[in-house]
Amino acid sequence: MEKFSLAIAKGRVLEDSVALLAAGGYSVEELSGDSRKLVFDLPRSNLRVLVVRSQDVPTYVDRGAADAGIVGKDVLEEQRLGLYEPLDLGVSRCRLVVAAPREKSNGKIGPLRIATKYPSLAREHFSRKGIHTEIVHLYGAIELAPLTGIADKIVDLVDTGRTLKENGLAEEEIILQSTARLVIGRASLRLKEKDARDLLARLSEAGQKNAVRREARP
Ligand code: PRP
Repeated sequence: MEKFSLAIAKGRVLEDSVALLAAGGYSVEELSGDSRKLVFDLPRSNLRVLVVRSQDVPTYVDRGAADAGIVGKDVLEEQRLGLYEPLDLGVSRCRLVVAAPREKSNGKIGPLRIATKYPSLAREHFSRKGIHTEIVHLYGAIELAPLTGIADKIVDLVDTGRTLKENGLAEEEIILQSTARLVIGRASLRLKEKDARDLLARLSEAGQKNAVRREARP
């Protein structure tokens, strides 16, 4: 049986996706263990999971190296490859925000320096507001940037808000609300239509169950 491959973003998205795949009837024992493998053929199905960096998921799907992907809306919006995005999975909820040190420094001249993993979204946000910025493109631990003086503010993801708080930063504006999305490659949609529909149906049912459970929570 030909495999149908699903690239999933490592980290929080992968954890939430494993729960959804399990709820959708897939056997995820190996995937939820602490294996360092990056390819998992789920038993009793033709689904092959590829574990990739979140920023790489759209590339895998766009180039047809994966038939489908699960990745945050934040990454899809940053890259805008125009992938077919049939399902909001409603998990891995977070927001992309502008944050700045609680203790404001004053008297600075020159463009506002913004540290971020999301250069396009950050640039677009400030240019819409007519604010001249210099983007400092970093790859992680963005909260460190204002503390070290490499940037004035940051544009980064916030979930619980703990990382901002513990690093003396305060949220100023929300740029985007994000959740994990299912994306499907256009060629796979055509050539593996049955498999694509099966995955979509199972995940959308699992997502609905998950939403009902969330609403039922006190
Ligand atoms: C993400 C994000 C924040 C943190 C927010 O980082 O970039 O740093 O999580 O979560 P919180 O609001 O619950 O504290 P991640 O863990 O992906 O690491 P990274 O910064 O190294 O990419």
